[in-house]
Amino acid sequence: MPPREWNAASYDRMSDPQLAMARDVMDRLDLRGDERVLDAGCGTGRVTEELLARVPNGTLIAVDGSQAMVDQTRERLGGRVEAFAVDLVELEVTQPFDAILSTATFHWIADHERLFARLAAALRPGGKLVAQCGGAGNIANVQAAIDAVDHPAFRDWAGPWNFATPEATTARLTAAGFVDVWTWLQPWPVDPPNPREYFETVILGTHLERLPPEDRGVFVEDVLAQLDEPVRANYVRLNLLARRT
Ligand SMILES: C[S@@+](CC[C@H](N)C(=O)[O-])C[C@H]1O[C@@H](n2cnc3c(N)ncnc32)[C@H](O)[C@@H]1O
Repeated sequence: MPPREWNAASYDRMSDPQLAMARDVMDRLDLRGDERVLDAGCGTGRVTEELLARVPNGTLIAVDGSQAMVDQTRERLGGRVEAFAVDLVELEVTQPFDAILSTATFHWIADHERLFARLAAALRPGGKLVAQCGGAGNIANVQAAIDAVDHPAFRDWAGPWNFATPEATTARLTAAGFVDVWTWLQPWPVDPPNPREYFETVILGTHLERLPPEDRGVFVEDVLAQLDEPVRANYVRLNLLARRT
C-alpha cells in the first residue's frame, strides 16, 4: 500500500520519544562528517536536523512518503537539506549514498524485500544501512487494547504494522545484497505525556483512516480506556545494521 498523509504539525509536537530513540541509532552511523547521507522516512525533519549536524561537510537528502511531512521538513531546514516525497519502495537515485539512516519508518511498509532491494540499490558498494523500526512484539499491549475494543473497522485488519523479527530481517537483508548484518530487538517503554494526541497521531497514525473523522476521537478514547494509568506503550524496537556488498 502506498504511503499516506500524516498530521505533520501534531507529529512534530508529539515525537519526542522518536527523537530520543533516533539519537542512539544515529550514533551507530559513525560518520566522519563529509559523507552523502539519506534520511529515509524523515517525518517532520526533527531527526534530520540532528543528522545534519553530523555531516557538516557532507550532503544530506531527506525523503518521506507524506508530502505534509516533507513540507514540514523543508520549513524546518530550508535550503540546508534537499527534501522530497517518494515511496521508499519506488526509490531510485542517480548518485549513490555512503550511508542511509531510517528511524520509525520500516514497520509502516508491508514489502520489506522490495524496500531493502531499493535501499541496497541506493547505496554505493560498502555503504552502510543503519535503521530502527518497530519489531516483533512492538506495542503488543496497545494491539491487545485495540483487539479488546473490537471495533468492526479494526477486526480484520491483516498486517496492520509490519513488526518483523530479527531473523526474518537478517534473511531479507542478506537476500537484498547486504553483508555484516546485525539485527536485534530492544524494549523501549514510552509513557506519553498527552496519550490521546500521541495515540491518535503517532501510534495509530494513518491507520485511523479506517474510521470516519467523527469516530476517531471516540475510538482512541476506547483504546486508552483499556490501558492502565499512567498509559504506557510497550515499544520493542528492531535495530538493523548492514553494509552493501
Ligand atoms: C513515525 S514517522 C517517523 C519519522 C522520523 N524518521 C522520526 O523518527 O521521527 C514514519 C514516517 O514514515 C513515512 N512512511 C511510511 N511509509 C512510507 C513509505 N512507503 N515511503 C516513504 N515514507 C514512508 C511516513 O510518511 C512517516 O513520515
